[in-house]
Amino acid sequence: MDSFALVIFGITSNLAQIKLIPALYDMEEKGLLPFGTTIIGLARRKMTDEDLQKYVGSVLRMKNIHHKHPIKDEIFQRLCRRFKYISGEIEDASVYTSLKRKIIEKNVIFYLATYPELYSYVFEHLKKSGLNKKSGGWIRLMIEKPIGHDLKSARELNELLLKYFTEDQIYRLDHYLGKETLQNILTFRFANDIFEPLINKEFIDHIQITASENFGIGKRGGYYDQVGALKDVGQNHQLQMLAFATMDAPAKFSSEEVAKERIKILKSLQPDPDRIVFGQYEGYKKEESVDPDSRTETFYALKTSIKNGRFENIPVYIRAGKKLNQTVTEISIVFKNPVTRPFKHLECGDEPNILIYRIQPNEGIVLKILTKIPGFENKLQAEYMQYCYRIDPHNHYIPDPYERLLVDAIRGDHTFFNDAEEVEAQWAFIDPLADARGKPHLYEPGSWGPKEADKLIGDDGRCWLEPSMAFCRI
Ligand SMILES: NC(=O)c1ccc[n+]([C@@H]2O[C@H](COP(=O)([O-])OP(=O)(O)OC[C@H]3O[C@@H](n4cnc5c(N)ncnc54)[C@H](OP(=O)(O)O)[C@@H]3O)[C@@H](O)[C@H]2O)c1
Repeated sequence: MDSFALVIFGITSNLAQIKLIPALYDMEEKGLLPFGTTIIGLARRKMTDEDLQKYVGSVLRMKNIHHKHPIKDEIFQRLCRRFKYISGEIEDASVYTSLKRKIIEKNVIFYLATYPELYSYVFEHLKKSGLNKKSGGWIRLMIEKPIGHDLKSARELNELLLKYFTEDQIYRLDHYLGKETLQNILTFRFANDIFEPLINKEFIDHIQITASENFGIGKRGGYYDQVGALKDVGQNHQLQMLAFATMDAPAKFSSEEVAKERIKILKSLQPDPDRIVFGQYEGYKKEESVDPDSRTETFYALKTSIKNGRFENIPVYIRAGKKLNQTVTEISIVFKNPVTRPFKHLECGDEPNILIYRIQPNEGIVLKILTKIPGFENKLQAEYMQYCYRIDPHNHYIPDPYERLLVDAIRGDHTFFNDAEEVEAQWAFIDPLADARGKPHLYEPGSWGPKEADKLIGDDGRCWLEPSMAFCRI
């Protein structure tokens, strides 16, 4: 890989602390930062290069970042030597004069780890100083979700981006796409031809997607109260999960073809504002930086469907929320249970097979099957055929999503990034649902959300699956 300059607007951000700096350490450790690569951090606070290096050290040693392994001094020193700092206001042209002086590499990644309100200043100044285009090297821009807060604002931001950069320079990042567990769904489906013939309306009864957390909003009240669960995780992570689990096989495994198939699913999703339930956990309004009269949802559950030949009339139930019973993210493909099954009369003989993509915490791909309980009687039990990430005899390294996506951006690989069309398709689905928000139903912390969510699925004669921890135990 060629060396490059990574310019992080907002090097002191929460995002840089918990995600980017640890990912850069890991990349340094694995030799993924080419010789000559520099990292230029930018923020308002007054610091020297040495202060930033000390700051990086303190960040890496902070508790609660994804790093569970010790920091090796030699690696840390090597990483530190790459860091340079520019102090100043993003709005101020002189910052870009300093930036131009500091960038000596042919290739540059600009990473926006700052407020969306500041993006237009960054773009305009980069253009004025000629930093958004370069001959003889590449210039790339990494930008975090959310891209806008509805379809209109997403379009405006995409238009703004395309005024200054070409689509192939832009890497819109939803870190879920960097998760090994999500990427492996495509390998599981399209490298094992035995399952794919079953993934359609002939065999599937319904699909469920759950993203539950057993904790609240913590100190994110100021942000969360403006956004709510539907836009925080529904518009992006959960729709991507659904797209990975239901998209058609790409003609080839290229970024264009994979994105094309994801987009087809996203565009065929049918929003139904009458089949969505919003909830708020008891005590939310007393959380730090939350409006005491807030109607923001901390939970939602919805029913949708995919309008294509393959999944016509197959219900898809999606739910997400905070302060729920468990922390778990998964996709469950619930198969039909034919009336002809000869074991129906036995205990659990009527249970469906379920294909579960467990994204976290006990990552794995498992198939719930019925087996005979060993012994003289003909008794059945539900068991799991499982592939588990944490029980890997080869002990493969699982990169953090940010590390993975940074490496992809350096390589110029767009496969696990969203383009403008994809983000807009997501918002086109979410907007009518967000418009249906009213007073949320209260639910008890530690529960599975308001009882109205049970009714939503119960009205169809189904129920939410209780996520099992009986497989891929960690
Ligand atoms: N935090 C997360 O976990 C997370 C997750 C997903 C996506 N994101 C996205 O990542 C981005 C950053 O979010 P965040 O929560 O990490 O932000 P944050 O902690 O509030 O940090 C904002 C950063 O921008 C800098 N900054 C603010 N105003 C500036 C100005 N006028 N000139 C120069 N620098 C300025 C701040 O540094 P100084 O105060 O030192 O100037 C700080 O480094 C947002 O787009 C957010 O949506 C964040």
